Order: sequence, then C-alpha cells, then structure tokens
Amino acid sequence: MNEINKIQDLIKDLSPENALGVIANAFPGKVVFSSSLGYEDQVITHFIFSNSLPIDVFTLDTGRLFNETYSVLNSTLERYKKSISVFYPQTQALEKLVSEKGPNSFYASPENRKECCYIRKVEPLKRALKGNSIWITGIRADQSGNRNDMPALEWDEANQIIKFHPILNWSLEDVKKYIRENNIPYNALHDKGFVSIGCAPCTRAIKPGEDFRAGRWWWEQNDKKECGLHNK
Ligand code: ADX
Ligand code: SF4
Repeated sequence: MNEINKIQDLIKDLSPENALGVIANAFPGKVVFSSSLGYEDQVITHFIFSNSLPIDVFTLDTGRLFNETYSVLNSTLERYKKSISVFYPQTQALEKLVSEKGPNSFYASPENRKECCYIRKVEPLKRALKGNSIWITGIRADQSGNRNDMPALEWDEANQIIKFHPILNWSLEDVKKYIRENNIPYNALHDKGFVSIGCAPCTRAIKPGEDFRAGRWWWEQNDKKECGLHNK
C-alpha cells in the first residue's frame, strides 16, 4: 500500500519514540494506541505520556481482567496524570451470552471461546478504532512463531486501518530494561511467571523455557491461539 511506504520513509532510522511523534503529527487526531497494560504496552504508554504525544490511549476492559491489571491501570493514571479511555463490551450482548451459556462458556469449545472474545474484545476494539487512521500496538516479533515475520507497518483489512508496532524488534530483555531504567509501573503478575497477560480465566503463568504464549488458552490444542484482535 502506497501510504505505508510513505510512512516508512518518514520514520526510517528513527527510534520508536521519535517514530511515534512523527506519525502522531502526520495524522493529527487520528492515531490511537491500544494498551493491554502489559510490559510492552507500558513502554509505549511511557513514550506517549512523557512526551505528551497527541495519541489517544485506550484499553479494552473485558470484565474478566486480573486485579493486578486494574492496579497497574490505576498506578499509570497516577504516575502520568493523563487519561486512558476504557472500552467495555456491549451490555446486551454480554448479558445474553452469560445468561444463556454461563460465565465460563469459553472452556467448552474454541467456538465458544471465540464468541466470548468477540463480545468482550473484538467488538469494543472496532468501536475504539472507528474513524482513526493509525493503530499502535505493543506486539513484538518474538512473542510467537506467527509474529516473527511481521512488518512494523501493515494494513489491517479487518479494521481498515494501518497498524504500527513500534517495538516490534525489541526483545523481552530490552522491554524489562527500559521499564526498570525509567521506573515505569508494570503488572505485578510479570514477576510471577506471567508474560503475555489477558483475561484472568484464560491466562496462566508459564514455566521457564515454555513458549511465550503457552499461558494463553492453554486448554486449546490448536497452535494459532489468537483472540481476534490481531490476525497473528
Ligand atoms: S492477544 O491477541 O493475545 O489478545 P496480546 O496480549 O498478545 O494480544 O497483545 C498484543 C497487543 O494487542 C497489545 O500490545 C495491545 O496493543 C493489544 N491488546 C491486547 N489486549 C488488549 C486489551 N485488553 N486492551 C487494549 N489492547 C489490547
Ligand atoms: Fe472471554 Fe477468555 Fe477471550 Fe477474555 S480471553 S474475552 S474471558 S474467552
């Protein structure tokens, strides 16, 4: 896509922090960042808030997040004194799902799991992205086999938006070091073996040497464990 090449030229050789600034200025009011409040996303939130970049930060509250995730949301608001928009599932769809199938239908089948992810994450994401041109994420290439060949800039067909992954090439060590050096608030679960953190009933800690995403939807046998936010 032509536009992606133009942006690529604009940010060539820039640090992730400077690239975000250039993109925010090139698309005024049309750049948003989705934060799950995990390690990687806290780095990007720091870039945005500490430079007062004109990028709206939002999070999707599925209603099933860990208490530790709410704590880091709170400490982030206190630290930066900036706002983070919170998107919730549509009340009617959620009431229907839980009334008909119970609170933990996702363990029964991949179809049920995807249905829950759609109602609690994907639909709210669509609302959050609406009308914007650039969607920033905290995806890193070494998070999964599916992600290691991703470009930092890509066209998202499902949401008709350009995605930018500013720290795609950072290692987990790079992320941890940056968090430490800048004293950035982070999810306490990261110190308990959790790497990729989503909803509480669907996330668990991993053992040393286990795959990065082994703690997500661990009861499912398929190797493409995605919730539908991203196609990888
Ligand atoms: S997922 O596909 O498994 O759910 P993952 O946890 O790897 O996603 O996170 C990848 C990126 O998706 C994050 O860096 C963030 O940009 C976005 N993301 C994931 N979960 C959320 C959430 N609850 N709210 C906002 N953004 C999210
Ligand atoms: Fe539902 Fe689990 Fe998906 Fe969260 S991760 S939306 S609880 S299925």
